[in-house]
Amino acid sequence: MSLSVVVLISGSGSNLQALIDQSLKGKLDITIKAVISNKADAFGLARAVQANVPTKFINHKDFSTREEFDSELQKAIDQHQPDLVVLAGFMRILTEGFTRHYDGKMLNIHPSLLPKYKGLNTHQRAIDANENEHGVSVHFVSAELDAGAVIIQAATEIAENDTADSLSKKIHTLEHTIYPLAIKWISEKRLAYASGKVMLDSELLPETGIRYHQDLN
Ligand code: GAR
Repeated sequence: MSLSVVVLISGSGSNLQALIDQSLKGKLDITIKAVISNKADAFGLARAVQANVPTKFINHKDFSTREEFDSELQKAIDQHQPDLVVLAGFMRILTEGFTRHYDGKMLNIHPSLLPKYKGLNTHQRAIDANENEHGVSVHFVSAELDAGAVIIQAATEIAENDTADSLSKKIHTLEHTIYPLAIKWISEKRLAYASGKVMLDSELLPETGIRYHQDLN
C-alpha cells in the first residue's frame, strides 16, 4: 500500500516538487495527503495546488507560544493519519512534545554534512571554514535541532569560486535525489528505526548514515 505522507514547508518547495515528480513517474509509491505551510506566500503551496494536493496555511504568528502552534499543527497533520511527516524546508524550531509525538515517523532534510553546521546559513559557514566539501543530510527528527539519526548524506566539493548561492544550487540538486530515495526505502519497508538507530536492509547504518553514490537505489 502506498505510503501516506504529509509535507511541511515554509518556502520554495523544490524538495516537495521532487517528491511529486517521482511519485507521478511511478518511482516513489507515496500519497501526499496534504502540504502545510507556516508562510502564506510559500511557493510550495502553489506547487501542491498544481498537483491537486490539499494545502493548509497555519500562521505561527497567530499563536503566542511554540506549544500552541505545534499543537494546532499536530491536529492538522493527524487529521490525515499519515505514515510519515516530511519536513521539506520547514523553518521552525519544534517543541519536544511535537517531536516525541512523531518519533520515528518524521524526516527532515538539512543542508550540511551533519553533525557539522546545524542551524542556519550552512553554505556560507562551510565556505568561511575553508571546508573542501559540503553536503546535505536526511535524518529522523528528534527533540534536539538537526541532531536526529541520519539516514543518508550526499556531498559535493567546494570549488574556489563557490558562493553560498552557487553551493546552495549544487546542494539542492543532491537534495532532490536523496530525499526521494530515503522516502522510497521507507515505503519499501527497507528502513527500520528504533531508539535513535537506523537499519537499512537489516544493516545498522553508521552515525552519519549512508553516503550517497550512484549505485544506490
Ligand atoms: C533546503 O535546502 C533544505 O535543505 C533547507 O531548506 C531548503 C528548502 O528548499 N532546510 C533547512 O535548512 C532546514 N534546517 P525547498 O523549499 O526548495 O525545498
